[in-house]
Order: sequence, then C-alpha cells, then structure tokens
Amino acid sequence: MGHGIAQVLVRHGYSVLLHDVSKEFLAKAAERIGRGLGRDVEKGRLTAEQKDQALARLKTTTEMSDLASADFVIEAVTENFEAKAGVFHALEPVVRANRPEVIFASNTSSISITKLAALTRRPEQFVGLHFFNPVPVMKLVEIVPGIQTSPETVATAEALAKSLDKTPLRVNDFPGFVSNRVLMPMINEAIYAVMEGVAEPVAVDGVMKLGMNHPMGPLELADFIGLDVCLDIMKVLHQGFGDSKYRPCPLLERMVHAGWLGRKSGRGFYDYTAPTGGVAGR
Ligand code: 3HC
Repeated sequence: MGHGIAQVLVRHGYSVLLHDVSKEFLAKAAERIGRGLGRDVEKGRLTAEQKDQALARLKTTTEMSDLASADFVIEAVTENFEAKAGVFHALEPVVRANRPEVIFASNTSSISITKLAALTRRPEQFVGLHFFNPVPVMKLVEIVPGIQTSPETVATAEALAKSLDKTPLRVNDFPGFVSNRVLMPMINEAIYAVMEGVAEPVAVDGVMKLGMNHPMGPLELADFIGLDVCLDIMKVLHQGFGDSKYRPCPLLERMVHAGWLGRKSGRGFYDYTAPTGGVAGR
C-alpha cells in the first residue's frame, strides 16, 4: 500500500521520501504512482503541470539513513510483527536522534499499536494510520491510538488524514480494529463456503454483489488485498481474541502455501493470467 499512500501525499503537496529494500520495488512504485496521477490528468482532476510537480515531490531510497530528515514517518511493510519491529528499531536512532518529536505511524491492518509503540522510546508519539485499498479512491483512514499515544499525536494524525481529503475515524486498539474485525471474518467465511462446496467463487461473489450491493465479492476482494495479507490478519484475530470463530480457513492457508496470493501473483480465487479471468482450481 506504500505507493498508494505516497501517491496521495505528493498529490496533496507533501514531499515524500519512499523507502524500500530494493531499487526494483521502488522503480515499480514510482511507475505506478506516475500512472495513478496520469489517470487524474485524464479525468481532468489534475493538470499535466500539477502531475509533474507532484512527481517532483517524490524521492526514493534504499538507505534508511536518508530518512533522517523526515518530519512524519508512515510504515507500511508486511503485516508481520517482527518485520515491523525491525523497521522501528532501525528508524529510531536515524530519525529521532536529533528530532525526538517526529511522529511514527503504522499502516498496520490489525497488529496492536500499543505493542508496536512500546518498541520505540516515545510511544506517546506513535499512532495507527490505517489506509484502505485502493488508497487514492477510499475515503477512510482508521486512526488508532495506542494506550500511551498522546492527544496531540492523534490530533496531528487526524489533521494529516483530512489534509489528504480523507475521513479519519478514531477506533480503539483491539485486534483488527473495526475494519478488519468485521471484513476478514466475512472473507474467511466466504472461503469456507468455497471449501465446503456451498458454491463456486463466482457464485459466492455474485451473491454478495447482487444481493448485498458490495462493489466486489469477498473472494475478489481477498484476491485484491492479497491472500497472504488476509491470512496474516486472520492469525492476528485468532491469537488476539483466542476465539475459534476467527480460525483461518484451511483453504486460505493451502492457497497461501501454494503461492496463490491473488492478483499480485497472477492467481488466487481467480486466474489473472487467463484473458477471461477464469476461476482457479482447488
Ligand atoms: N488506483 C487509483 N484509482 C483507482 C484504482 C486504483 N487502483 N482503481 C480504481 N480507481 C478509480 C477509478 O479511476 C475510478 O475513479 P473515477 O471514476 O473518478 O475516475 C474509480 O476508482 C472507480 O474505478 P472503476 O470504474 O475502474 O472500477 P470500479 O467501479 O469497479 O471500482 C473499486 C473499483 C474502487 C476498487 C471498487 O471495486 C471497490 O470499491 N472495491 C472495494 C474496495 C475495498 O473494499 N477496499 C478495502 C479493502 S480492505 C483494506 O484495504 C484494508 C486492509 O487492511 C486489508
């Protein structure tokens, strides 16, 4: 989601330094941001000049030390506590060495903000800033204070979200917050319905689109989010609540083990390599 967040930030006048582990990922992200802003030009929401100015505000780096000048840091790495912990441990001495006031935000979908904040020396300046895919389109940002987050940090996060033309909604620090506590069990249940032979994926999705007016069916949405991300979130809910109702569906686990991660891998519940987008086998 990092490129989507960066796109929205540069579009709204912020200078962004996008950090990733490889130059290839960064080149791909910059290319997608250019394409996303190009869409705004086509639709008449931006001029070509404004697009160029926005792109000029985007810089990329693989060096953590370059982040020393950041005023606000948004982490959007993989949905895994250890991966996020590694990032915050590396960030703290670089970013907060001379400016301890810099706020750290995490785009985590489900992991405890209190636990992530406690990895840092200034948990009062740590907040959850949860964007939704596709970031340029979705209006919501969940703002999640940890137990130690200061009111000033929350106010800054809310002001930032509003300046991006998003609607911040404040929710408390429980596993999955509100969004994924409600969304992921629905997706998980849809996968059980497929596994148990209740219906094929197209029919499960069709029921939810035509019967409930959802823009995407739960399986299409799972493919869009990434099945690995869905599994990680279900595991956080399962462990966090200790309730078997959050048990990840075995078919979801099998598909992730197979490397069928959804759109990004070319195959999930649907086959994105086929011209007609056929249904994947089980
Ligand atoms: N990037 C930027 N803009 C995009 C886009 C993308 N990837 N995909 C679509 N858009 C824009 C289009 O330009 C268009 O805007 P415009 O009409 O003003 O130009 C608008 O979105 C609608 O796009 P389309 O007409 O091409 O396609 P659809 O009408 O089918 O909409 C969709 C696509 C917006 C993705 C819609 O299907 C949708 O809302 N799906 C549900 C998305 C959702 O639930 N997201 C939340 C996922 S959960 C999450 O992210 C949390 C995490 O923690 C897991």
